[in-house]
Amino acid sequence: MSIALCPGSFDPVTLGHIDIIERTSRHFDEVVVAVIRNPQKTQSLFTLQERQEMLAECTAHLGNIRIEFFMGLLVDFAREHGANAIVKGLRAVSDFDYELQMAQMNFKLARIDTLFMPTSPQHSFLSSSLVREVARFGGDVSQLVHPAVQQALRQKFGK
Ligand code: PNS
Repeated sequence: MSIALCPGSFDPVTLGHIDIIERTSRHFDEVVVAVIRNPQKTQSLFTLQERQEMLAECTAHLGNIRIEFFMGLLVDFAREHGANAIVKGLRAVSDFDYELQMAQMNFKLARIDTLFMPTSPQHSFLSSSLVREVARFGGDVSQLVHPAVQQALRQKFGK
């Protein structure tokens, strides 16, 4: 059974993340979405449970997704779950520098491969931090996130 890991903070999950998870799910038997437990909890907008609920709702149409939390090194989590590869979306060249470093470090630590998937062009500018900022000031995020996430952002910011 082939297992892919899609790791991230997902604070909140965007349509860009969903695009990568969906496309990854076509290539692997199972996709484990690994949500990092942020040690600086105060910096997160959404709690772990909220992030998990939003991810579950956005991926409900896919049959082979599991959502898990992790702390510490991603490679340890990958080993525990028998993952065959880490899959990362690349939006632009600017992502590549750091992602390459992490991929090479993860390979050095545990001989696990990282596969880079180009983000669909319509999502190349999209990030959770920009979504948070737009939503915070009442901007329209309907083209950027799933309706369930839009609703959660509205509740968070009262807009
Ligand atoms: O959504 P993000 O915040 O860009 O996700 C980053 C994440 C969680 C994938 C990355 O920070 C990570 O893998 N952290 C785990 C700690 C770790 O393994 N560090 C060494 C990587 S070389």
